[in-house]
Amino acid sequence: MKALVLSGGEGTRLRPFTYSMAKQLVPVANRPVLEHCLENLRNIGVEETGIVVGGHGAQVEAAIGDGARFGMRITYIRQEAPLGLAHCVSLASGFLGGDDFVMYLGDNVLADGIAEAAETFRRRRPDAQILVTKVADPRQYGVAEIGADDTVRALVEKPQEPRSDLAVIGVYFFTAAVHEAVRSIVPSARGELEITDALQHMIDHGRTVTAQVYGGYWKDTGRIDDLLECNRALLGRLGTDRPEDGTGGDVDADSVVEGRVVVEPGARVIRSRLTGPVVIGAGSVVRDSRVGPYVAVGRDCVLDTAGVEDSILLEGASITDVPDLHSCVIGRWARVRAQGESSHNRLIIGDHTQAEVLA
Ligand code: TTP
Repeated sequence: MKALVLSGGEGTRLRPFTYSMAKQLVPVANRPVLEHCLENLRNIGVEETGIVVGGHGAQVEAAIGDGARFGMRITYIRQEAPLGLAHCVSLASGFLGGDDFVMYLGDNVLADGIAEAAETFRRRRPDAQILVTKVADPRQYGVAEIGADDTVRALVEKPQEPRSDLAVIGVYFFTAAVHEAVRSIVPSARGELEITDALQHMIDHGRTVTAQVYGGYWKDTGRIDDLLECNRALLGRLGTDRPEDGTGGDVDADSVVEGRVVVEPGARVIRSRLTGPVVIGAGSVVRDSRVGPYVAVGRDCVLDTAGVEDSILLEGASITDVPDLHSCVIGRWARVRAQGESSHNRLIIGDHTQAEVLA
């Protein structure tokens, strides 16, 4: 089975980060979301993966490479504009040929892997198999109506009156029957070739589309709050999912470390309190600070006399003299600091940035 990973798109809901980076490269628990996805694909034995990339394609290629690191061959497929998930299938038709494939949205995290779903697909081999999960408010999702034998009867995008609480999540298994459906559909009102329309076309033309309930942890990391929630969930698994973890960095005798904490090689912790789960990226310095719980500090960051909880710091970020930061995502090489000389707050923040300061 091949894989098709979608790593293009605009990522408007993750601005400002997506102005300068692909959203699939934003780290959760200090690893790009896309790496979590490729690892799941490797674990079901995928050897050939096509990655659809958009405007930040060169960056995705530089970060992920030829796939050797993940035990697979990766082909990059350029999408000039985000014309929809089914458009990605059509662009990749040459790469996919007549093979079965798994299509994986590169911003989705399925922390418990996809082995069971892949096994079911291989055994039952319907024309398509979607994954669904129970959600509290199905009106925000694509919703599947499921009949006997897990057969999907209908798919409805963001229904006002949902007929089930099963939302479609970002991993789909297909046989080559999907290509005919993709060729037959037309763009939706928002101008995209929708994968739900292709699936509905398959159902309407007598193809078997089945659904499997995903019982593990799933998150679409498309929005800031979802990223932070996912970060908490993956950090909560530190030391269970990442056997390579350990404290390779340098923690001085005046520091206190509680709970599951990873200090990567080359990182230094000085006179600080780390309350796990926390990961401190390689080359970072934490001095006279309180970090955690639920904080992922990227590589080469500096925390000096800082207090941070429930946050993600990307590479090179620094926080100085700010004691009480919660639920933050701080971009690459961004600096946050207090200044004592004036009674004013000073903000230099880019387009679509959010700042919440004490009143
Ligand atoms: P979405 O999250 O639906 O779209 P988006 O990335 O454009 O985000 P936003 O709504 O915030 O602007 O996309 C799901 C995944 O599929 C994501 O990893 C991006 C990818 N994608 C493509 O590769 N090509 C496309 O044409 C579209 C629509 C999405």
